[in-house]
Amino acid sequence: MLSSDNQGRSIEFLDDVISGLSMEQKALSPKYLYDANGSALFDKICELDEYYPTRTEVGLLSERANEIAKLVNGQHLIEFGSGSSTKIRILLDAADGLASYVPVDISREHLLGAAGSISSDYPDLEVIPVCADFTKSFDLPDVVDNGTKAGFFPGSTIGNFSRNEAKDFLSMAARMLGEGGGLVIGVDLKKDPRLLQAAYNDQQGVTAEFNLNLLTRINRELDGNFDLNAFTHDARYVNDKGRVEMHLISQKEQVVTISGHAFNFKQDESIHTENSHKYDIAEFHDIGRETGFEPSQTWTDSNELFSVHYLKVAA
Ligand code: AVI
Repeated sequence: MLSSDNQGRSIEFLDDVISGLSMEQKALSPKYLYDANGSALFDKICELDEYYPTRTEVGLLSERANEIAKLVNGQHLIEFGSGSSTKIRILLDAADGLASYVPVDISREHLLGAAGSISSDYPDLEVIPVCADFTKSFDLPDVVDNGTKAGFFPGSTIGNFSRNEAKDFLSMAARMLGEGGGLVIGVDLKKDPRLLQAAYNDQQGVTAEFNLNLLTRINRELDGNFDLNAFTHDARYVNDKGRVEMHLISQKEQVVTISGHAFNFKQDESIHTENSHKYDIAEFHDIGRETGFEPSQTWTDSNELFSVHYLKVAA
């Protein structure tokens, strides 16, 4: 739970914004992109022609649902960052006799809403929601902890972690899933940078709106005065870092005030808002091995745009 000051502002959000905008390279955490409007815009991104990850992953999961279901049947299936629990339905439709479905999400409201609708659509399935920040270690209910566990982490959300954060998350997941467990994980692949460029700079400008919404959110929640017309969206593939970087670029020299704190911007100065790391299959397998897993299965589409892996916890 975020704490708020007496004007209802999130202190953690304000602290993060102040420290992020005080850095040499100004930066804001991508987690703040997802207020209600940002989440709705992200759903729109997932439908865009240029944004291939969602439909490619859904295609792979649907095609391989029976194979994946065999790997997780009989286990407690833990979804990290379950959100609206949509992709899991592909596996739930194919699975037979899961010990339980354990959605884990930091937003209690989302978690309970999604868990309720899964329960009513799959009446024979035991649903055990856990409200937690899955990027930190958290406790599982004993009944889950004592059983065999499989994890589900779709959407290439791992790409939004730095490579070190990705390793920390995978090490934590391997420890939590334990002996006999495994992880089904979606990972976006390295590819022709022109495809990446298009995916993060769509023609309709939805990704630009998603990025700029962060400034709208700061204006609304933290009493900021960002001029939305004085910043533009920029997304670029940075080859040596293997990632798409999203930035907001100041179109002029300007001063922005947030809750009484002033920040100077030079013309063309950027705020770095998100990284989306892309992996080679071999590179991702190596990371899996370094973090306590044994890569067991990898599925990709015919154009090798996206990958879904089953990593077994190493004995
Ligand atoms: C949520 N995440 C995997 C998306 C991505 O592709 O990195 C977020 C996103 N940012 C811009 N477009 C989509």
